Amino acid sequence: MSTKKIVIALVVLSFWGANAQQRIPEVETLLQKMTIEEKIGQLNLLTPGGGVTTGEVVSKNVEAKIKAGQVGGLFGVAGPDKVRVAQELAVKESRLGIPLLIGSDVIHGYKTTYPIPLGLSASWDMELVQQAAQMAAKEATADGINWNFSPMVDIARDPRWGRIAEGAGEDPYLGSKIAEAMVKGYQGNDLAAAHTMLACVKHFALYGAAEAGRDYHSVDMSKVKMFNQYLPPYKAALDAGAASFMTSFNDVDGIPATGNKWLLTDLLRDQWGFKGFVVSDYTSLNEMIAHGLGDLQAVSALALKAGLDMDMVGEGFLTTLKKSLDEGKVTEEEITSACRRVLEAKYISGLFEDPYRYLDSKRPEKDILTKENRALARKLAAHSFVLLKNENQLLPLQKNKKIALIGPLADSRNNMLGTWAPTGDVSLAVTILEGFKNVAPNATIQYAKGANVSDDPEFAKKVNVFGPRIEIDRRSPEVMVEEAVALAKNSDVVVAVVGEATEMTGEAASRTDISIPDSQKKLIQALVSTGKPVALVLMSGRPLTFPEEFELPVAILQVWHPGVEAGNAIADVVFGDYNPSGKLTVTWPRNVGQIPIYYSTKNTGRPAPESDEFQKFRSNYLDSPNSPLLPFGYGLSYTQFAYSDFKLDKQSIGQGESISATVTVANTGNFDGEEVVQLYLKDMVRSITPPKRELKGFQKVFLKKGEKKEITITLSPDDLKFYNSQLEFVSESGEFEVFVGTNSDAQLSQTFILK
Ligand code: NOJ
Repeated sequence: MSTKKIVIALVVLSFWGANAQQRIPEVETLLQKMTIEEKIGQLNLLTPGGGVTTGEVVSKNVEAKIKAGQVGGLFGVAGPDKVRVAQELAVKESRLGIPLLIGSDVIHGYKTTYPIPLGLSASWDMELVQQAAQMAAKEATADGINWNFSPMVDIARDPRWGRIAEGAGEDPYLGSKIAEAMVKGYQGNDLAAAHTMLACVKHFALYGAAEAGRDYHSVDMSKVKMFNQYLPPYKAALDAGAASFMTSFNDVDGIPATGNKWLLTDLLRDQWGFKGFVVSDYTSLNEMIAHGLGDLQAVSALALKAGLDMDMVGEGFLTTLKKSLDEGKVTEEEITSACRRVLEAKYISGLFEDPYRYLDSKRPEKDILTKENRALARKLAAHSFVLLKNENQLLPLQKNKKIALIGPLADSRNNMLGTWAPTGDVSLAVTILEGFKNVAPNATIQYAKGANVSDDPEFAKKVNVFGPRIEIDRRSPEVMVEEAVALAKNSDVVVAVVGEATEMTGEAASRTDISIPDSQKKLIQALVSTGKPVALVLMSGRPLTFPEEFELPVAILQVWHPGVEAGNAIADVVFGDYNPSGKLTVTWPRNVGQIPIYYSTKNTGRPAPESDEFQKFRSNYLDSPNSPLLPFGYGLSYTQFAYSDFKLDKQSIGQGESISATVTVANTGNFDGEEVVQLYLKDMVRSITPPKRELKGFQKVFLKKGEKKEITITLSPDDLKFYNSQLEFVSESGEFEVFVGTNSDAQLSQTFILK
């Protein structure tokens, strides 16, 4: 480490430390030299286009603006040589030579794409999540990127919302752990290191609670719900040291997040102590006009005053802030503060010391898509799969069988990477057909498409915006099914790969019907009717409602969208080289009418009977049970686990004390395997209505067949706390019930008293 680097590291450490007033001298000196126009320029984030953008607007005259000092950062530009061109424009041709931040959406891997975040979260393996983020950072920085628009930590309890694919599911406790692991993975211990990049926590806040699961829709919720259920992952990411935050498209308590002073200043900075910078989402500043908050000048002033520092693409800041300053609508101090935060981030990234730090043209070949990275992507994918059902212990398959591999996603390279992979290359993805041949070369594998993902050309057109995902065959659906059935009859076993194409989830991909499309339902029924054993490999970016298919005598392996190593990883699990250990991180409903449905729901004053049977004047439905199809935390293994000897180390504790739960878990089946031991807590009496239970701890353990282990999970004093109606974080005396088990329906329980 050079002396200069050590100095940067020390300044950074003290800057992120407790003293909010700490200033970085180099940044202060620079600020002294800047004109007001140059300060406003630093607040401008542009995308030159050419890559995948997620809005309707693409920036114009980018080169001239960089030279004029009107750009603080770019995204959608990658590769050391291309980024160098942009960086040189800023460093050599603008008056003050301030380097650019180079952003990107590296959501589930850079070029070595790994499972969509919802899938990765199902691994419940924080070490793996951190490793995944680390690998993404190493690849992205090799390509010149120094700022990542990830992690997305929005709690989502509505699977109609397409972006549920991009987060870690419904639970604030698990979501917080994952947020922390991702930030640590991206940022490491030294943001100026060549392999680390700034994280950007998004979308602040509550984006996942969009009404009716419709993207960009309004959000309205109580503060108590916000603080207890939705805010914890953002706070956890902040506490892990996240350098930046991105606002959300929605309103929060009637004010769009991008212009919400309570959110961006009172809560984020004053209460939580955030010292990094806040960027808007793509044109979300301008969208405040459509939200009904005024014209561009008015909403830009509002956003700056609220605490927004950088404006993504919309150029509201660039084009109106000077005028607002002249008219006394914003102050110079407000502009300077925003500029300071952007400059501090650049300083911390080491860009002032060396603007070309991330621009080594030898790195891409050395660091991207390496053998080790692909091996990690394969492992991450296998660990993300969830075994939903295994009728007659059909899986794993032997490697010497005659297999009919059927389905529109079985040989569909375009659908392997997942929704947020603009930096990935679909041509590198391993299909399931290829994976099966790689892993089981002695099996006889015959393939038939069997059905289209959907037979509806209009629907296909909407899904195919980034390339062909739903390819409607020239043959009729009937002919395709017939071919598949003939193949099935002529095989020992059928594996059908069905579900959603990648862009059926993600941004602006909400659905009101989240069942398996009809074309594929018919195929599944026809295959099962042959009487051959059938394993369904289910691909999707969200929970699907499929109660009828779930009742069929089949095995079902949920594989999400697994990334570049899809086929190999699926084959690893199907043929038993890896025993599945994933657990759902979001509840799977029986039908859309149950949404929002989540395990930590309230009891209500008129709870339905435990039996789930309908009772008049109780909180239930005439036409559906309350229980979901599959609970949060659910997932099977090829082996079985038995829980026993559950005990707490104390019967009662005082405020500020911890309590430990111990349980014995035994592998009683025929395979080695991993189990996620889960602990849930119920606060029996509270000053506000408590959730029925909440996840407060988990451990993933490996047990050889026949082995058993004692697992201890300790509850800290904070685990017993919640935000009360005054929004104070407190624990209240009384009885608590602790549950341990294999999913959120865990029944083994013990109680203790908090004095
Ligand atoms: C819009 C998305 O909401 C956000 O997540 C993303 O980072 C930006 N576009 C930039 O691509």
